Amino acid sequence: MKIKIESKESGKAIAHALFFVKKSIQFSSVLSEKATEQAETVLNGMEEGPFEDLEFLELDGVPTFFVNAAKERGLTSLDHLRMAAYRLAKQAKKKQISCVSLMLADAAPEQLKSIIHGLYYAEYEFDRYKTKKQKSFSVVYEIVVQDQAKEFSKIANDVAIEQASISMARDWINTPGSDLTPSVFVSEAEKIAKETGLKIKVRDIKALQKEGYNGLVTVGKGSQSLPYMVTLEYKPAKASKDLHLALVGKGLTFDTGGISLKPASTMWEMCCDMSGAAAVLGAIRTIALLKLPIHVSAVLCLAENRIGSKAVLPGDIFTAKNGKTVMVDNTDAEGRLALSDGLAEAGLLKATHIIDLATLTGAMVRALGYAVTGFFSNDEKLASKILEAGQTCCEKFWPMPLEEEYADGLKGKFADLQNTGSDAGAISAALFLKEFVPENTSWSHWDIAGTAFVTKPWKYTSHGATGIGVQTLVELARQLGE
Ligand code: BES
Ligand code: ZN
Ligand code: ZN
Repeated sequence: MKIKIESKESGKAIAHALFFVKKSIQFSSVLSEKATEQAETVLNGMEEGPFEDLEFLELDGVPTFFVNAAKERGLTSLDHLRMAAYRLAKQAKKKQISCVSLMLADAAPEQLKSIIHGLYYAEYEFDRYKTKKQKSFSVVYEIVVQDQAKEFSKIANDVAIEQASISMARDWINTPGSDLTPSVFVSEAEKIAKETGLKIKVRDIKALQKEGYNGLVTVGKGSQSLPYMVTLEYKPAKASKDLHLALVGKGLTFDTGGISLKPASTMWEMCCDMSGAAAVLGAIRTIALLKLPIHVSAVLCLAENRIGSKAVLPGDIFTAKNGKTVMVDNTDAEGRLALSDGLAEAGLLKATHIIDLATLTGAMVRALGYAVTGFFSNDEKLASKILEAGQTCCEKFWPMPLEEEYADGLKGKFADLQNTGSDAGAISAALFLKEFVPENTSWSHWDIAGTAFVTKPWKYTSHGATGIGVQTLVELARQLGE
């Protein structure tokens, strides 16, 4: 796929595309009176029949895609545009139309951004394991603009970079557990560091043991594929000295549950248990390539949770990096143990703001499902920034309470803490993490267990990893850096 921002029609377009939003034709200032009339007929036909939400008809003699950008229930108008662009791109590919002119002359920048995201989502395919690959067909999208060529070209370039990161994150997440082990993930992070010039530090199990990162060691020691912590740093000269954003990601390349084994039916989905680390790596790649003026670190907590003679036993007690002792009463609540070290590491890096992303609890899936990410924060200002950034990026967030009444459930009998609480699964997990958040630090925890991976078509994902989190993290970094 190619996107070309032009100041006049190249004459190569084989078809036009016209978007409808809420009973009106959008971005149509270039239409003739006759074409407007024809378009209105189609629009009415979409509302009342016989037309479908995506039609390919002649408009004033030119083949034209008519795309209804208000089809789905519950989406924002920007997300409707993404979905419309996604459906359009799927059709253009199917019909093998080599050049489509998008009629977007009077689109606002954020509308253009949404549409370009939608076009890219239609490109994503995870066919590495298919012996018969779908034939790829490359469509050129031409967008003719008047005086916004420079601004629109920058938007198109930025979205291309961000979408490449999102696709990488989705590839890592969709890759089966035996093929994306912690050490393979380390090499992916090294490749990103090389590409972007990010500073990188990799700790293997020996270094982790020596330095007391025992949460990650406890989780990962039962597997042949041993655990790692990867720390990446982006520190541009023009960044403020007073703000350091650390992104911490749960990177369980597979979660069997350990000795407290998971049931068989959906265990295969646990290749997605490193979605937090994938999002964080995708975000820092984008932030670095877009040269955003903010100091950002990323901490990936990588391990595989397995059964075996070296695996942690229920009841075992370890001392975490911040000195607290923890009894592992359920080895399937391993994400919070791995993250405890990531949060401690962010503290040692002197982060002023920490955001952790984790496919942490089944309880969050039951609470909010696949469409909304539940998040927690100890800082209201940061929480409202997250909500705002999420909305701009068409990623839905919902604030959850760090309800102290449940904190006693995490008290250990022989140790300071135990890793599961008695009530409210997602809140208990967040309260456990809070025990490891360094003092005087703004922190937010995003439980993406429901939103990271879908098993039925949802928005622009037919099956598998959604790439959730990358965009909101990048947008947040953009806002914090301003
Ligand atoms: N990785 C899972 C959480 C999860 C569930 C992710 C569904 C994606 C989809 C996590 O490690 C886990 O197993 N959590 C347990 C905690 C429980 C034992 C307290 C859970 O939620 O069941
Ligand atoms: Zn688990
Ligand atoms: Zn897990």
